Parts: sequence; structure tokens; C-alpha cells
Amino acid sequence: MTSPTQYDAIILGAGAAGMMCAAVAGQRGRRVLLIDHADAPGKKILISGGGRCNFTNIGAAPDRFLSSNPHFAKSALGRYSPADFIALVDSYGIAWHEKTLGQLFCDGSAKQIVVMLLEECAKGGVALALGHPARDITHADGQFRLNHGAQHASASSLVVATGGPSIPKMGATGFAYDLARQFGLKVVEPRPALVPLTLGGEETLFRSLSGVATEIIARAGKSAFREAALFTHKGLSGPAILQASSYWRHGDPVAINFLPHAAPGWLLAAKRSQPRATVRSTLAALLPDRLATTLAERLSAQKSGDEARLADQPDKALTAAEGQLADWRFHPNGTEGFAKAEVTAGGISTDGLSSQTMQARKVPGLYAIGEAVDVTGWLGGYNFQWAWASGHAAGLAL
Ligand code: FDA
Repeated sequence: MTSPTQYDAIILGAGAAGMMCAAVAGQRGRRVLLIDHADAPGKKILISGGGRCNFTNIGAAPDRFLSSNPHFAKSALGRYSPADFIALVDSYGIAWHEKTLGQLFCDGSAKQIVVMLLEECAKGGVALALGHPARDITHADGQFRLNHGAQHASASSLVVATGGPSIPKMGATGFAYDLARQFGLKVVEPRPALVPLTLGGEETLFRSLSGVATEIIARAGKSAFREAALFTHKGLSGPAILQASSYWRHGDPVAINFLPHAAPGWLLAAKRSQPRATVRSTLAALLPDRLATTLAERLSAQKSGDEARLADQPDKALTAAEGQLADWRFHPNGTEGFAKAEVTAGGISTDGLSSQTMQARKVPGLYAIGEAVDVTGWLGGYNFQWAWASGHAAGLAL
């Protein structure tokens, strides 16, 4: 066997975090090998944000990230902020805009972000090896050794940046967890996040609303999100639901306020102003027609049928109906799983990592960054910001 090519650092995964880390370390003079089993780098970046890459969020505060240790992400996020990434994007003349809720997108194409990161890697002399997974990874005498394709490589540092298993058809794997376990790091049970929820049983009838969208407040656990929800042929989706899904646990309800704009007492006010209207017609003025019909039919508080005039309904029943519409409990029977999840929650436990450098405490030279780690952002550019920030932190430490 030929002797391995020697590097200072080998980075596994040429995604968002891996490319950032490689560029930073390379530009600091480190000899870096960046390996990906895919035939092209940054595939998730290319499909992100509908092809325009929602590359950061100007509101990326640490409380918008989930982790078993809510403090872990603070250091890296604090040292590499959205403004830092925006400065990089600006230095490449990439035009961008804020869409909504602090979400920044390329005006043109996500490809510009990948080209920028590759250019940054090239500036640092990073060697890029595509098309083969890393195999036979060992660690002895302060050196990590591995094979990729027909090549052998060794380095004193190894960075795990292979992401999580969401969207396996794009080459996503649970490889990071296998590697973590090989080196004795704990893994927090990975689960699909930012994922549509499925409805069954009695709630199956809501699936007939497939395609209907409306602004709601979705609540799971202690977290609430006011954005659009979308009924699908399997259950519930749309940004508000995706956000809530990250906090949802099997067996829990998801509470929906269908009328976030309505002032308290709106149904009684409607009874006074339009006594001949029905609950259905009143709802239809505020919500998509099919949704109004389904909700009116199912309002358990309505004793006298959904076509009864408001004037004929007791105030108490209307107050109860209003309460139900503001706190409608769905009981999802699951999610659409990793196949449809935008990210993976859980992952390599932060317990064993330095929040400053992302280095494993017990395995000097081993680092984990990006989605592989148990840090998961909200929808809207947060996950890329974590990838950039954690990649940057490790890149400075290599
Ligand atoms: P990432 O998944 O980017 O990279 C991991 C790399 O490792 C991949 O290139 C993969 O091929 C490689 N790899 C995996 N296993 C390997 C193995 N065994 N050997 C070698 N290489 C291996 N976030 C956001 O902030 N804004 C957005 O607009 C979107 N949009 C979006 C859309 C869709 C459809 C998805 C699925 C996800 C998003 N995200 C997002 C989430 C975002 O894409 C994600 O959080 C980051 O890409 C994570 O960056 P990483 O570098 O950690 O992993």
C-alpha cells in the first residue's frame, strides 16, 4: 500500500458546514482535504430556499435553536454572526433580499453560494475529493487515517461534517452518528424536524382540505409560531406547522388558533351585527371556504347545527365555539419522516464537544460541526447560520 497523503485536517462532508470550515482552515495555512461521497459539493444548498438559498436569518439568536444544551450554540453563533456571512456574500457581489421574518435569500440562485464557498476553499488551497465515501477510519499515534476511493490520507485532525439523515435520496446519511459512536461520543436520538405532520383516525377528514392554506398560530409544547399552515393529503404542513414539528413529540397535541387576527368576542360581536348569519358564513368571511365549512361542521359547541342562525344560538355556545377555534387540538399520528424533513433534530451530543472549537473533549483532533451536531435551528435560514458559525469556529481551531 502506498503511504498516505499527509494533511493537517481532513473534513468529511462538502456541505455548508464542511466547506466553510475547510475555507477558514485553508486560508489560515492549514493543508486541508475535503471529502464527499457525492459527485458535487453543496447539494442541499443548491435545492435550499426553493433554489434561492435562504442563507441566513438576521434574527438568528441562540433561543431559536433546539438542543439538549440550549447554551451550547451561543459561543459559535456569537463569534460568527449573520452580518459576517452577509459581508462575505456582499464581497462576492451576490445580490440578496429579505423575504419575510428576517429571512435572507439570493436574488439569483443558490448556486452563487456554492460557487462562493468553493472559491473560498480554492483561496485556501483546499483539496476536494468527490465521489467516494471515507472508509476504514482509524486513529492512532495522534493521526487519523482513512481511505477514499483508491487514495489513502492521514491528518492530525478529522472534522465530521456529514450532516443528518434528512432527505436520504440526496445522499444524506447517518454516517456522522456511526463515526461518533466509533470514537465513543454520545448521540442524542435523531428525529425528523421541520417536517409535515400526519393525521389519522377521526382527523383524517381534514385531509380532504388538501391544498387549503391559511395563516394560523401553531403551538407545540411551549413554542408558538404565527405563519401559514397548509392542509395536505396526509395531514398538516406549511411554515407554522414545520416550525411546531421541531417541538412536537409523539402523543402530544398541536394546538391551532385558526383566527389569530380576530379580536376576543368576535363571534358574539357578529351575532349582534349580523344575527341572520350562520357560524359557517361568518367563518367563510374570515377563512378559506372549504376550511370554514369543515370547522363549522365539527364545532362541538354548536348544539343547533352548523346552518343555525347566530341569533338562535346561545351566547355561551358561541363563546365556546370561539374558544375552540382559537385552540383547536390536532393529535398527529406521526410525521412524514426523514424523507420529507428539512433537518434532523438530535445528533452528536454537545456534552462531549467544546462549544468554542467543536472539538471532542475525549478525542483530541476530532471535531463535529453543522447538522450532525445536536443543534437545530428554526425554519428560515437558521440552519445555514449554524452550519456557517460552527464550521467557522472549527476552522479557526484546526
Ligand atoms: P449538509 O447536508 O449540507 O452536508 C453534508 C455533506 O456530507 C453532503 O454533501 C453529503 O453528501 C456528505 N455526506 C453524507 N454522508 C457522507 C459520507 N458517508 N461520506 C462522505 N460524505 C458524506 N436551511 C436554511 O438555513 N435555509 C434554507 O433555505 C434551507 N432549505 C432547505 C431545503 C431543503 C429541501 C432541505 C433538505 C434542507 C434545507 N435547509 C435549509 C437545511 C440545510 O440545508 C441544512 O441544515 C444544512 O445543509 C446543513 O449543513 P451541513 O453542512 O451540516 O450538512
